[in-house]
Amino acid sequence: MPKVQPHSGKFITLEGGDGSGKSTQAKLLSDFLTSQAIAVVATREPGGAPGADDIRELLLTGDPDRWDAIGETLLFYAARRNHLRLTVWPALAAGTWVISDRFADSTMAYQGYGNQLGIEAVQKVHDFTVADFAPELTFIFDLPAEEGLRRTEGRLHNEDRFEKMELAFHQRLREGFLDIARKNADRCVVIDATRSVEDIQRDLRAEIQNRFLS
Ligand code: TMP
Repeated sequence: MPKVQPHSGKFITLEGGDGSGKSTQAKLLSDFLTSQAIAVVATREPGGAPGADDIRELLLTGDPDRWDAIGETLLFYAARRNHLRLTVWPALAAGTWVISDRFADSTMAYQGYGNQLGIEAVQKVHDFTVADFAPELTFIFDLPAEEGLRRTEGRLHNEDRFEKMELAFHQRLREGFLDIARKNADRCVVIDATRSVEDIQRDLRAEIQNRFLS
């Protein structure tokens, strides 16, 4: 079974629906940690390693019906395995912190809840691919589905397969993330993503200070 060696780096993930502002926050958080003399790798999923970036292109472009929920889940996990093996685990083993814009909670929320593949199905693939490796801390960015969709409306890019999904999908997704946070209360902190960039960043830093730096 896949197993990461005991490590001194911290693995911190940011999760949430599209338009929740987590990418901006991930960048600010990496800058903050770097300013504290902490070695940081900022990465994202799907992607974060060359093979995983190729899979990203397959997953995020094209028609919403291009993949079904099972095919999609397998592709996300193939990319994740590549990302872990080539980027995340080596960094952690070297004592570097890893900040990842999305990780496995996204598959549970988008494919398990959003696409209604179900919790058990996603969990099986997770156990096979990732086993008991997990982030030390996960921020779940929570936002009403309508607000997230409104924020992504004006974005000009072609990686919009999921943004094209109906409102009900995004509502299931939000509930899914909140459910994941309830079930993993030690690891997950829910962030009210309707607030200002500065307020949110202050909360993220405070949480990290309390948990890891004091
Ligand atoms: P992003 O880079 O804008 O976050 O785009 C990634 C998209 O892929 C986003 O719509 C969420 C979706 N996604 C999944 O559906 N499942 C996953 O496991 C991951 C990592 C992302």
